[in-house]
Amino acid sequence: MSEDLWPPHALDDPEADAPSVAAAGTVTLVIPTFNESANVRELLARLRAAVPDRPPREVLFVDDSTDDTPAVIEKAAADCPFPVSVLHRRSPAGGLGGAVVEGIARAGSDWIVVMDADLQHPPHLVPELVGEGERTGADLVVASRYLPGGSRAGLAGGYRVAVSRGATWLAKGLFPRALRGVSDPMSGFFAVRRTAVTGAALRPLGYKVLLELVVRCRPERRAEVPFVFQDRFAGESKSTAREGMRFLTHLAALRSAGPLARMIGFGLIGLSGFAPNLLALWLLTHAGMQYLAAEVLANQAGVVWNFLLIETLLFRDRRRHRHWADRVGRFALLANADLLLRIPLIALFVGRFGLGVLPATALALVTTFVLRFAATEALVYLPRGPRAARTTGS
Ligand code: GDD
Ligand code: MN
Repeated sequence: MSEDLWPPHALDDPEADAPSVAAAGTVTLVIPTFNESANVRELLARLRAAVPDRPPREVLFVDDSTDDTPAVIEKAAADCPFPVSVLHRRSPAGGLGGAVVEGIARAGSDWIVVMDADLQHPPHLVPELVGEGERTGADLVVASRYLPGGSRAGLAGGYRVAVSRGATWLAKGLFPRALRGVSDPMSGFFAVRRTAVTGAALRPLGYKVLLELVVRCRPERRAEVPFVFQDRFAGESKSTAREGMRFLTHLAALRSAGPLARMIGFGLIGLSGFAPNLLALWLLTHAGMQYLAAEVLANQAGVVWNFLLIETLLFRDRRRHRHWADRVGRFALLANADLLLRIPLIALFVGRFGLGVLPATALALVTTFVLRFAATEALVYLPRGPRAARTTGS
């Protein structure tokens, strides 16, 4: 086990003899924490003030802290009328997203509310989120900064506002159907019915848990409640520039989850590989190398480029089946087999049709790429039979 339930059960709740999650309409608040010792006391105090006793509530912190956050929570929990527990993870797998998914998997209640510990998410909205879900029959209720009445007041600086806006547009552009009715897919504040979550399907990467949840679980009915993103009560944001990269990787992984999408992704990456290939070819031929030798070398630039992108964007979760050296070897072998076909083609275009080296290479790249793509589709993805002959297109 890589984690502790710390302490192993509900803390200091005199009435916690029966499991708090048995009654209908129960709510588990899942709150990820990473070094939030200066915030958790105030958070629990405001939750105490905001959250009614009925239906029963419980708070589950999923903690990856290296400071004394769990101890501070334990002390503050003594004053709480609802059960509070801390799941302290020894290895912080998946960061914020991984923590939230673990919390969701543990929650047995009807509703799960996910919120941050730094008071940027107003605690008084918790009952409203669940209430809106009960009223409308929604499976998911998102606290949105982009509804009338909501705003991003606490998002520090024009830069972060722009990044957040751009990320939202990108996500909405890539998932127009999945994100219909969700104006703020980047929100970290939402309520979801447990029945709408298929825990095993969630593999979040980094901060964007809601995006993961909506795209993978596709909760049918969605509702939204406006909220004003507050200033942090204490401490600093834990999100970094690296989170931005993770977000793009996350988008790519979500977008290429189906076989057709994977193929298109494979094709797009292959296309993008033309650029380093042609660039290397230009450099090498200008340095005086004979063009066929330059082709062979320049192809390796494209191979490396394609390999890195395919590894990080497309087959990220299938990498562990083989050692990386094995994967490099196989990938390079296939890609250069492609080159074996390409070289005679280029020689043909240059020698017979008098094309320049660059246009001939570009044409040959396109030709062999289409062939490789068609072969992949026909051999891997299409059913056998007469229809398999129609392989191009889509
Ligand atoms: N368990 C755990 N592990 N919790 C973490 C980790 C981690 O690795 N990293 C951050 N957290 C916790 C923080 O302690 C805090 O309670 C919450 O996750 C949000 O972290 P912040 O660092 O405050 O994030 P933010 O304010 O930059 O981003 C928030 O707002 C964004 C909208 O602009 C988050 O809610 C994002 O999900 C949201 O997209
Ligand atoms: Mn925050």
